[in-house]
Amino acid sequence: MRVEIGQEHRYAHCVRVARCAELLAACYGADTRKARLAGLLHDIARLYPPARLLEQCKRRGMAIGEAERASPVLLHAPLGAALAGERFGLADTEILSAIAKHTLADAHMSPLDCAVYLADSLEPGRSFAEREALWELAQHDMAAGMRATLQSTIGYLHRRGLPVAPQCLAAARAFGVEE
Ligand SMILES: [Fe+2]
Ligand SMILES: [Fe+2]
Repeated sequence: MRVEIGQEHRYAHCVRVARCAELLAACYGADTRKARLAGLLHDIARLYPPARLLEQCKRRGMAIGEAERASPVLLHAPLGAALAGERFGLADTEILSAIAKHTLADAHMSPLDCAVYLADSLEPGRSFAEREALWELAQHDMAAGMRATLQSTIGYLHRRGLPVAPQCLAAARAFGVEE
């Protein structure tokens, strides 16, 4: 796995996400072992260059929306889930779902999906002003943590004039983020 991930800091991030996801899963009554595994594997396609991401997703007949075409890096999440199945024989659909949804989230998020999404957004290696407050919130209230984290992400994209992917907007709507 070390070779696949390729970079020391990426490996450290995955270990932190695994620990945070495990902790949040325990708070949310989700499976902590599945959360840890999803956390460890979530970024296995993160270092693929854009052309390779597009090509690998196309080859598997995976959906490539406008947002993904503009930012192929977004595809590392669903492609990571496909690779976890193919390379590691992982067949657990709950874990694969959490990997696939860790970047953009989705209209339908299980507690395990939320644990991995929030762990990836809020692990201590992330350095943005609201991180600590959001992490505190996420440990006490899953829906409030999702709402506030999605709001923060969308705010960040808006401030930079970047588009918000439909999956992320659907998640925001599902968790009651004010538009
Ligand atoms: Fe990622
Ligand atoms: Fe990540």
